[in-house]
Parts: sequence; C-alpha cells; structure tokens
Amino acid sequence: MKIRVPATSANLGAAFDTLGIALDLYNYYEFKRSNKSKIIEKNYNSRLEDNLIYKSYKKTFEKFHKKLIPVEIKVNSNIPISRGLGSSSACIVAGISIAYLIMDRKIDKKEIFEIANEIEGHPDNVSPCVFGGLNTSIVVDEAISQKIYMKNNYKFIAIIPNFKLNTKKSRDVLPKKVEFKDAIFNVSRVSFLVASLVSGNDSNLKYAFCDKLHQSYRADLIANYDKITDFLDRESIISYLSGAGPTIMAITDINRSVKSKIEDFTDQFEEEYKILELKVDNEGVKIL
Ligand code: HSE
Repeated sequence: MKIRVPATSANLGAAFDTLGIALDLYNYYEFKRSNKSKIIEKNYNSRLEDNLIYKSYKKTFEKFHKKLIPVEIKVNSNIPISRGLGSSSACIVAGISIAYLIMDRKIDKKEIFEIANEIEGHPDNVSPCVFGGLNTSIVVDEAISQKIYMKNNYKFIAIIPNFKLNTKKSRDVLPKKVEFKDAIFNVSRVSFLVASLVSGNDSNLKYAFCDKLHQSYRADLIANYDKITDFLDRESIISYLSGAGPTIMAITDINRSVKSKIEDFTDQFEEEYKILELKVDNEGVKIL
C-alpha cells in the first residue's frame, strides 16, 4: 500500500498558527505488515523510537487500545526538513494514516486531524496536510478546522535556503506580549486576506499578506531575509515567511513567471537556494 502526503505552508503572513495551505510537493510512503518494524529512508537513519512517522504510528495504536502491528515503511521524501514546509506534519499525518490502514480502520480525516494536532501541538500545518487546500483552524477543547475556497488560482514560489531553522528556536524569539496596535494590525490583515482570496480581489493582496506578530522577530535568524523580501517588494511580488521559516514564499498570479528572476537574484549569495514553483494541493493525504 502507498500513500501521498503534501507539503504545507503556514501563517500566510498575519495568520500566525491559524492559516495553512497544502502544496503539490509530496512525500510518498510505501508500507506493509512485517515481522519487525522498520523505516527505510535514503540518507536518514534515526532510531526507530525517535522517528516521528513511527511515533505517530504507535500513538495511533495506543489511542485505540490496539496491539501494535509491526510495519515496514519505505519513505520517498521531497519535502525538505526544517525549512517551514510542514515536513514534521507530513511525518505525523503519514504515521497516523498508515496506522489506520494497517489496523483496517476506516479512514476518518477529522479523527486523523485531531490526533495529528495532539502530536504537533498546533493545527495550522496538520489541517491542510490532512484535508488539502487552504484551511483555517482553531483549538477549543479539540482542534476544529474549516476549508476556505479561493476564487482564483495562484502560483506559490518557495525560496528554500540550504540551511535549516528549528521551529522551537524560531518560536523562542517571539515576544511574550504584543502591542494592542500590532494585534489589531494582524486581525485586520487576516480578515482582509480571507475576504480578498474568497472574492478574488487580487489587487488587495499586497496589503493582506503583511504581519506584525512574528516575521520581523524571526528575520534576524534568517540569512538574507531582508535583502530577499526587499527585492520581492521592488519587483511587486507578494511574499511571506512560510511557517516558522527559513523558506520565504512568494505568491503570484498562476500565469506570471518570476522563477528565473528570483534565481538570478539569489545566485549572488553564499547560501544556496532552491526555487520551487508550486500549486495548491486540494486533496491532502491520499491513498494511492
Ligand atoms: N505557525 C507555526 C509557527 C508553524 O509559525 O511557528 C510552524 O510549525
């Protein structure tokens, strides 16, 4: 059996820990029952007990009070690790979904999302990873999410550096308290963003992706952040910090071509960048 799990980009500017979108960059997991559990992944050898896919698999069995069935999982991953593209959410959603399939439990995406949120701790990446598309999520007693249907199609251009940024480190630099005016700034931008995407009012998007709660605090941790975002601003290309970073995500009309322009600009830096043009994934985790 085989499943596919998408990359996700969280925050989209002001919507810190709230919005997330699934993109068409995928990890593939091929799995079968086995005598002994084993995760096979090229260039990656974590101890089984430390592996996030396996931990999530095991937790799902525990949740349903089932005896653990040993599994062999072959991973083919394209989502880069610790780059703000939802690689840990992908591992979690994969581990849970594989557990459902191995224990012959009917796939229930809402349940999978709730278990994934318990493991991840915030729902903004796991929600689009499970359901696909653009999602908004809240946590009350449990995590609840809702899909937002955008009128237009966009291209997401991921500017992925060759260095990692640990999410904890990127959260540790955030302030414990924020100014009231900054809170208002973000509430207004998120409402404006959602309204603009739903109505297809693309001329408003340049105002809607701004943020005062996290991006400027994180900028110091990310080499060339200001240089790249200033360049994108000059070129009238909208951008935001993808999740906790360090990937910067540019967003354009589906027909605009900016990849080579961005490549030419980032070529000047000592750090290397991979520029990927992505589209929205609308399916989320999928059995192939
Ligand atoms: N919303 C999270 C953050 C995403 O910005 O820290 C990272 O998982």
